[in-house]
Amino acid sequence: MDDRSGRSIVILTGAGISKESGLSTFRDADGLWATVRIEDVATPQAFRSNPVRVHDFYNARRRQMADPAVQPNAAHVALARLEAEWPGELLLVTQNIDDLHERAGSHAVLHMHGELLKLRCGHCQVVLEWRGDASVGTPCPSCGHVAGLRPHVVWFGEMPLGMEAIYAALDACDLFISIGTSGAVYPAAGFVEEVRRHGHAHSVELNLEPSLGVSAFDEAIHGPATDIVPAFVERVLTRGW
Ligand code: APR
Repeated sequence: MDDRSGRSIVILTGAGISKESGLSTFRDADGLWATVRIEDVATPQAFRSNPVRVHDFYNARRRQMADPAVQPNAAHVALARLEAEWPGELLLVTQNIDDLHERAGSHAVLHMHGELLKLRCGHCQVVLEWRGDASVGTPCPSCGHVAGLRPHVVWFGEMPLGMEAIYAALDACDLFISIGTSGAVYPAAGFVEEVRRHGHAHSVELNLEPSLGVSAFDEAIHGPATDIVPAFVERVLTRGW
């Protein structure tokens, strides 16, 4: 039996992995938070005080996902290959709300900040696939309430999804890879410290530039995701780490 089958991998991705697919990051000079304020579109208070504006922001991002030019890139494809070919367990935790990992062929994806192509009803809590625009007047197809539907995304001040499963995987894994994330937003920014304190994994940062937390990683490789992620995946599959 392949002795790698007992070795598990956890991958964390952020906006940097989707940048070369044409989606903006948040904190780069041309990032989303340079054009719109977090307090206006990405908090529960923003949605309470101006739901039209918040829906408009996410409607625009949802429409962008339907643009034929926005496709999974070589980094997404490489991670899908790693999942397909790695004989042990693998969990891909993403902060991204786009569906590019799934479109590249990844299955074990946990969207800790939710998903752009879903809405959630604040009345009955049903989660629905949603590809079109949403508005305050859209009735919930499940319970019929109007004004209850919100983007199924985790806003600042809200609890990310799947944290119990994520920490269990981090504590048990043998390799932790962080890709395309600035290390500015917790709890994801603290995953490498979790691995250092409670786990035993070799930790690797793959990012365009050193992240805020780079010194906590055992190894760091810097460059565009479409170059460095396929190369790192090839290395893991052929030589390990
Ligand atoms: N290849 C690799 N990394 C890249 C590339 C690229 N082509 N382009 C940019 N990056 C890097 C940047 O250098 C930066 O360190 O990706 C990182 C993106 O950082 P952020 O914009 O802060 O995105 P992220 O870390 O995913 O943000 C976390 O913040 O506002 C929220 O909820 C939002 O999930 C998001 C969270």
